[in-house]
Amino acid sequence: MTDQNLQMNTNKDNKSDVLSIKDLRVHYAVRDGFHKKSLKAVNGIDLHIGAGECLGLVGESGCGKSTLAAAIMGLVPLTSGSIQIDGQDSQKLSVQDPLAQARNVQMVFQDPFASLNPRRSVRETLSAPLRLHGIKDRHEVEKRITDILDKVGMKADAADRWPHEFSGGQRQRLCIARALIVKPKLLVCDEPVSALDVSIRAQIINLLLDLKDELGISLLMISHDLGVVEHMSDRIAVMYLGRIVEEGIWSDLFTNPLHPYTQALIASIPDPLAPSDKQSRITGEAPSPLNPPLGCAFNPRCQYAFDACRTGDIPPFFTQNGVETHHARCLLLDPNHKQ
Ligand SMILES: Nc1ncnc2c1ncn2[C@@H]1O[C@H](COP(=O)(O)OP(=O)(O)OP(=O)(O)O)[C@@H](O)[C@H]1O
Ligand SMILES: [Mg+2]
Repeated sequence: MTDQNLQMNTNKDNKSDVLSIKDLRVHYAVRDGFHKKSLKAVNGIDLHIGAGECLGLVGESGCGKSTLAAAIMGLVPLTSGSIQIDGQDSQKLSVQDPLAQARNVQMVFQDPFASLNPRRSVRETLSAPLRLHGIKDRHEVEKRITDILDKVGMKADAADRWPHEFSGGQRQRLCIARALIVKPKLLVCDEPVSALDVSIRAQIINLLLDLKDELGISLLMISHDLGVVEHMSDRIAVMYLGRIVEEGIWSDLFTNPLHPYTQALIASIPDPLAPSDKQSRITGEAPSPLNPPLGCAFNPRCQYAFDACRTGDIPPFFTQNGVETHHARCLLLDPNHKQ
């Protein structure tokens, strides 16, 4: 994707968007002691991903990343808002034509050991989605299996083997093959390398990037680790307690992080050369989504917080120096703010 296309695709609605999320809310009904409460796991999110684009989504554990992924996959009911995939309303489509929905979007999960059925050979695992989508001709099925195994860097004879014969990295390659064999437009990857050995993470990330370019798919790359999405994302969205607090082209976000939370996330990317006691960490606990703080949810942990950050609702998005492609929800960026 060219820089110019990216610029145009950053903040605005675009007809060619493969994913378009509008004011999405996913609330869970939970018990808090004797009380029934609503846990706002996703609390008003707008996001979009253009054709062939990779959006990195980062945030700490519990901020709602997997809930957002589940909503995109149609695995949890939406409380409100909408999700369009390739121009089609995903809620309507999942009722009217669930197969079409599955052809549009596929997912790769964190744990490749739990994601493959140990009682199915690789051939059975890869042919099942094809048969589900009506591709039953034996030669066509075999050809697709050989092609996709080649694309994910596995030999054709892997088809005759079983999940337990493969390492974690190879299993994740097989999970990627299973997701891509039906040629989806969007691939959602929820922490696809965090269960893998550090030594093979880069291989899987590079594989996903190569496949994105070769097949022209769009990627939503979810990680709690900004260092993982840094190298593969065209744009990055930073999530905190159910909301996006900063979004921008990755180079802008890294060179000029606007939100104090993003600044802290960048500072806490592990530096392999620094001694462990010199590594920076985000201090304080993330607040519970059952009892979110007033104002900006990051205020209890923010060294710059002032009175207005502790009242009302979360601030709107602000840009800086007229850069429309990069914005954050922080009152420090409010042009009317005076300290
Ligand atoms: N089925 C559920 N019922 C009730 N609460 C849930 C459910 N699933 C998730 N939650 C809560 O919703 C919030 C968001 O969880 P989610 O798993 O989406 O976060 P996450 O960002 O993916 O975290 P992690 O990085 O640990 O995977 C958390 O407070 C979690 O406890
Ligand atoms: Mg998760």
